[in-house]
Amino acid sequence: MNVYIETYGCQMNVADSELVSSILKENKFTIVKDIELADVILFNTCSVRQHAEDRVLGRITNEMNRKKFKKNLKIGVLGCMAQRLGNNLSNINSNIDFVLGVDQYARLPQIIAELDEQSDFVCNTTLNDEEIYKDIYPIHKGKYNAFVTIMRGCNNFCSYCIVPYTRGRERSRPIKDIINEITNIGKKGFKDITLLGQNVNSYNYKNVNFAELLRQANQINTIERIRFVTSHPKDLSDEVIKVMSTSDKICEHLHLAMQSGDDEILKKMNRGYTAQHFLDIINKLRQAMPDIAITTDVIAGFPGETEEQFQRTYDLMKEIQFDYAFTFKYSSRSGTKAADFEDQVPEDIRLARLQKLIELQQEITTAKYKQQIGKIKEIYVEQVSKKSDLEMSGKSRDFKITVFPGSKNLISKFVKVKIIDAVGWTLKGKIV
Ligand code: SAH
Ligand code: SF4
Ligand code: F3S
Repeated sequence: MNVYIETYGCQMNVADSELVSSILKENKFTIVKDIELADVILFNTCSVRQHAEDRVLGRITNEMNRKKFKKNLKIGVLGCMAQRLGNNLSNINSNIDFVLGVDQYARLPQIIAELDEQSDFVCNTTLNDEEIYKDIYPIHKGKYNAFVTIMRGCNNFCSYCIVPYTRGRERSRPIKDIINEITNIGKKGFKDITLLGQNVNSYNYKNVNFAELLRQANQINTIERIRFVTSHPKDLSDEVIKVMSTSDKICEHLHLAMQSGDDEILKKMNRGYTAQHFLDIINKLRQAMPDIAITTDVIAGFPGETEEQFQRTYDLMKEIQFDYAFTFKYSSRSGTKAADFEDQVPEDIRLARLQKLIELQQEITTAKYKQQIGKIKEIYVEQVSKKSDLEMSGKSRDFKITVFPGSKNLISKFVKVKIIDAVGWTLKGKIV
């Protein structure tokens, strides 16, 4: 039976789709890239903002017509929206055949096998705080970069965020399984890995902490580059900064969500740090690794945010000069604490503030790229450039796409490139 999977949301969902592919393949299903060939269409969904849900619901509606021509076609919904809406999804769209929550993927083969033309809607969204999908090794989609899940769930309950409700409690994968997985994917040719979790800094498996996990990962000689997402500012320890700066494989690249630059808002968000603490961490990181690229997430228009409070966020972003910022307009998620806060900011003000942050960051990112001119960077060559067959494209350790004249035999190799120009958010260089 052919299964087509469409994935939305964060890297955790991408990794989960790879896990689902592996579970299905083990059970004799075929994963297809062409939706036309599908007997089963799976949507792995995100709930983080209302827009994310609306988008995928629209996509499901678009694909419904296929059922007219293929009577036995089944549509299944997985992921965070499945977890959040469960049974309600069958009322929203009666063409959905089944819904499975994030800890129920091991049941997928059985559930698909049991569906037939007469089947009723099936839904299982039980959260299981022990499920870590032990002994299931995902089929990694890419060729050069792979995601490795090190933990699932989140215990932080930031007041705006749905993730702790859709992903359940935090749990760490055994260190041995992680190290085995990294070693094996390295042997398959992946040289660049990203460790994944909603809060990797609180990784803890039988007293092995995140710093120790990084140390052990750095010893694996089948791989060359290590990154990790996401770090929480309240848990990013000095020990981790030290390991980052002294381990050759750990890239000079960190994503650290700031969310706001105002202490009162940060408190209402339940983030557990102040603007000053955030700034101190940035300074420590830059002291330890002068070339580090730092990216962030920021929310505009959190409930109660005044013009002055918004200005503090703007000013802090300007002061820090992130390499890139993912900026979001606050979206109320029912069931979260912030959804019940009284002073919700009007939509047009949220949008206007978001627009200001986007414009500020565009300027900063452009300048950051220009600052790279003249530097010599190590590039992991991934593909022929989209614009010219005579140019190769790859990424630097600080995650900047770099294009340079070269031939195909450089793909999957590491080369040193001198940066001679920055066109938009792409670096141009030549091999040295
Ligand atoms: N665990 C990660 C974040 C996962 S969600 C971390 O803590 O860094 C990714 C980003 O979406 C968050 O950092 C936040 O900026 C944004 N986000 C989450 N909930 C949101 C909401 N209700 N409205 C707008 N943005 C939100
Ligand atoms: Fe959401 Fe906060 Fe957990 Fe990140 S740390 S997933 S923002 S609750
Ligand atoms: Fe979205 Fe779930 Fe990730 S809500 S951001 S897919 S953890």
